[in-house]
Amino acid sequence: MALERTLSIIKPDAVAKNVIGEIYTRFEKAGLQVVAAKMKHLSRQEAEGFYAVHRERPFFNALVEFMISGPVMIQVLQGEGAMLKNRELMGATNPKDAAPGTIRADFADSIDANAVHGSDSLENAAIEIAYFFPATDVYPR
Ligand code: PPS
Repeated sequence: MALERTLSIIKPDAVAKNVIGEIYTRFEKAGLQVVAAKMKHLSRQEAEGFYAVHRERPFFNALVEFMISGPVMIQVLQGEGAMLKNRELMGATNPKDAAPGTIRADFADSIDANAVHGSDSLENAAIEIAYFFPATDVYPR
């Protein structure tokens, strides 16, 4: 398996629940390394830009409102097969469908407030990482 990087966001609901550390522990136990990180309260413009691909979806405004409702924790995860590995750790988008032991099953309350985001392809991972981090802020450079 190839060494990959993927973008992860711990959303406002999980930050408010004070489970950043518990989620980081899951990344680390799965062999994913945090190689860049920052806490940020996104502006409306930043959230709309990040989710621009979903602009026409009925939930777009609700998603943006939620993502700007409080600070988020944004990180780049690196490891063998990091993109899919992170998606497995996250569980299904709707926590009701998420497998037991996944981050969403354990920490998410609803499809609107679902605890974490993870890039869904390597192509999107590269775009999303560049959206939040200049290349010089990801280690090793
Ligand atoms: S898709 O088809 O795979 O792109 O869609 P999906 O991954 O399911 O959803 C894309 C993002 O939109 C969020 N989402 C929602 N937010 C609010 N309300 C509803 N009903 C809803 N459905 C999906 C979902 O959590 C995804 O956000 P991210 O941050 O990418 O995980």
